[in-house]
Amino acid sequence: MENTPRTVVSSWNEWDPLKHVIVGVATNGCIPVSEPAIEYDFAPESGIVGRTGPWAEELVGRANEELDNLARVLRGLGVRVDRPTPIAFDQPVKTPDFEHPSMIGCMPARDVLLTVGNEMIEATMSYRARWFEYLAYRPLLMKYFEEDPRMRITSAPKPRLTAASYKQGYFENTSISDFGRIVSRADQQDYVTTEVEPLFDAADATRCGRDLFVQHGFTTNLKGIDWLRRHLPNHRVHRVNFRNDPDPVHIDCSLVPLRPGLVMGNPDRPIVMEPGKEDLFTRNGWEVVMAAKPAHAKPQPLCYYSIWLSMNFLTVDPKTVICEETEVYQNEQLSKLGFNVIPIPFRNAYPFGGSIHCATADVHREGSCEDLFPKQ
Ligand code: ARG
Repeated sequence: MENTPRTVVSSWNEWDPLKHVIVGVATNGCIPVSEPAIEYDFAPESGIVGRTGPWAEELVGRANEELDNLARVLRGLGVRVDRPTPIAFDQPVKTPDFEHPSMIGCMPARDVLLTVGNEMIEATMSYRARWFEYLAYRPLLMKYFEEDPRMRITSAPKPRLTAASYKQGYFENTSISDFGRIVSRADQQDYVTTEVEPLFDAADATRCGRDLFVQHGFTTNLKGIDWLRRHLPNHRVHRVNFRNDPDPVHIDCSLVPLRPGLVMGNPDRPIVMEPGKEDLFTRNGWEVVMAAKPAHAKPQPLCYYSIWLSMNFLTVDPKTVICEETEVYQNEQLSKLGFNVIPIPFRNAYPFGGSIHCATADVHREGSCEDLFPKQ
């Protein structure tokens, strides 16, 4: 029809039929460099300890093959797929307040963009390396703005990320793999960021219609959650914490909604809900299933995330999920839960920012904003 806009921005949850999605690219990606918010702890056998700058071309090529394949699979399912525009991520990030040697890349679209209904929110981010990452998605956002007259773009307040935004010496004399020490601080909800300004990564939020669950941890502080709460007055924004996690960032390896009434938890990371909301899921008739154990005993050698990327799959509709092919236990569990599982290779993409859910950002899913937790 003549006046029908070509693009619709609308997505309220993680499971309704996917119509349009962004899939990241590995091009120009750089080896991440430690900064006050995070200490990268690559294993000696990774061969990249002390190295900085762009990832080897061969690694980029292999990651892009898997990302392109994901895009192809999605298109085959009738989903429109867009890709971000990489910029020169090897340039330093410099603002009047700080300087950092390089950026990371634009593979994990999920980390930056949070779609709530017809609004796409660019997260503040909390790592200095990621301050300008939104630039890679701007060409798409401008296009959607042009094509969908109802679409709204919001850039959350850009943080200053001065030394005051981080607890001094949080990772000193330790490393993220120093499980015990970091976990005992994190278990007390004592994370690396301070509360001088709102900070959040988009991937710390997961959407269930009117209810949003947002992980408080290394990348999202309480002010960040408060900003989301004030910004989305028609939603209920729930703070969640996870125990026993040495790197509490991004909720999509810890709490993954599968369809109305079914959410997946991480058996290693007990969920801590806000006081009075401990049984919010069960009270509303939701079942919480624990994810199957990961198929790998150790993370991908160049990847700074955990083995729990096993549960970082993408739900295409309430009956279809795209999963990493080697995660046989996870995939078997999803089949038993009634899903048609589409396995794809993805481990070569992990070093660029995570697995299949991380690499994508919703633009359009069918459906509307439902109240699935009427008993608050
Ligand atoms: N914290 C997660 C883990 O290692 C990684 C989450 C990655 N998610 C993302 N959207 N980048 O278990």
